[in-house]
Amino acid sequence: MKVEFSAIPKSLAGNVAVLAAADGQLLASAQAMNAGDALARAMSASRFTGARQTVLPVLGLAAPLGRTVLVGIGKPRELDGRTAEGLGGAIVADANAAGVKALTVVVDPVKGSKLSPAQIAAHIALGALLRGYRFDRYKTKDKPDQKLSLESVTVAVAGPAEARRVYDRLAPTVDAVFFTRDLVTEPPNVLYPAEFARRAKALSKLGVKVEIMGEAELKKLGMGALLGVGQGSERESQLLVMQWMKGPKSQAPLALIGKGVCFDTGGISLKPAGGMEDMKWDMGGAGAVTGAMHLLAGRKAKVNVVGVCALVENMPDGNAQRPGDVVTTMSGQTVEVINTDAEGRLILCDAMWYAQNRFKPQAMVEFSTLTGAIVVALGHERAGLFCNNTPLSNKLRAAGAVAGEKLWRMPLGSAYDKLIDSDIADMKNVSNGRDGGSITAAQFLQRFVQEGVAWAHVDIAGVAWSSKGNATTPKGATAFGVRLVDRLVADNYEK
Ligand code: BES
Ligand code: MN
Ligand code: ZN
Repeated sequence: MKVEFSAIPKSLAGNVAVLAAADGQLLASAQAMNAGDALARAMSASRFTGARQTVLPVLGLAAPLGRTVLVGIGKPRELDGRTAEGLGGAIVADANAAGVKALTVVVDPVKGSKLSPAQIAAHIALGALLRGYRFDRYKTKDKPDQKLSLESVTVAVAGPAEARRVYDRLAPTVDAVFFTRDLVTEPPNVLYPAEFARRAKALSKLGVKVEIMGEAELKKLGMGALLGVGQGSERESQLLVMQWMKGPKSQAPLALIGKGVCFDTGGISLKPAGGMEDMKWDMGGAGAVTGAMHLLAGRKAKVNVVGVCALVENMPDGNAQRPGDVVTTMSGQTVEVINTDAEGRLILCDAMWYAQNRFKPQAMVEFSTLTGAIVVALGHERAGLFCNNTPLSNKLRAAGAVAGEKLWRMPLGSAYDKLIDSDIADMKNVSNGRDGGSITAAQFLQRFVQEGVAWAHVDIAGVAWSSKGNATTPKGATAFGVRLVDRLVADNYEK
């Protein structure tokens, strides 16, 4: 699907979307085309009130108009970038459901909005593209009505050049988000650790330095915890290191760490069969980190950021690690592996240690689908945030609010920490009960944070995949984290 910007035509033709504010206020173009009161009458014959992201088709208007839809923008003062993107998404969903191939969205000035028409237009364009994602690589017999029909969207606005300029800053989001969605959606027979790493290599075209390490190198580095998780798999474990160092020389980098369990069977602590297929997206953290690097490079951010992803497959096998095994992490600390299904923390602790030793980051933000317990606590609306540094926590929460990837800060503390003390090693990988399971997981990770490093752990188990979808995300992989990092960097680290 392609998007272009144009001036508002003198008279509208073809398939068009025009806007109405809450309480049924038609914006200028809608008013102008309200021939014979058609739009007003359609509204009064329906429940449409202009509420945010609602769509009312008004069919049968005189030629040359085709399918005409009224789109609610809600309260003008509540219209921000994300809600404008939702409008684009709602329009695209309606058009695809109706089999529309091309349409024009008319963006009139919205009185009382803090966004300019150009900004609204640019975000509508972005939302339209984000909603137009579809993963159909493995569909060989698609019926025509299952394909996305919409091929082109024209966003008509006074000052299309300005809209295009705003849009150009947003456009790299699309490729990055789609890159992550593809990684996360790919089936686990296709996307195993080496294949993930191979695909990440594509970022070198954008100027990212990409390094890939295999098991021999990880062994030399002493990553006993990471290797222990992967040892029951036929697929070789990998460490993916990405560098985008385009900020000031003196700036210590921001380190992003990602959990990349390409499939999580639980290992010898095997998961039940029902829903196990979901564990293909247990690499959603690594997917988000790789997509974030893609976006920062795509828009040439003036910042130093490194991404380190631990890529493994957690399988039960004759060579798999056993409950009771003790492994030595790269940090030298030992871990008694009580439950092989608590594997994320085992790979992350080595990736975190490596990133800190090598890159001396000023801050380290890690993304992982780490615990089912965070889904119990927060559902699918917010990711859990664990952080040892309140300013960093506030930056992340603010970035999440703007990016539409919301976080909720969770507690840490020594009373939780002692729950993972082991009788025979420095720590165990799970506590005795399930209580506070997301917190004890975070406590485990915190034991691998070096002195003076601001660290955040974002548990995205409830948000990496959406069974419902939303205005700009079809159901499936969300790419949660990509835009959050982009915002975090733009607002705090870019010089
Ligand atoms: N990958 C899972 C967590 C998960 C669950 C992600 C549901 C997405 C949706 C993780 O490796 C895991 O298995 N965690 C265990 C930890 C337990 C053994 C302490 C869990 O949450 O049950
Ligand atoms: Mn697991
Ligand atoms: Zn897992």
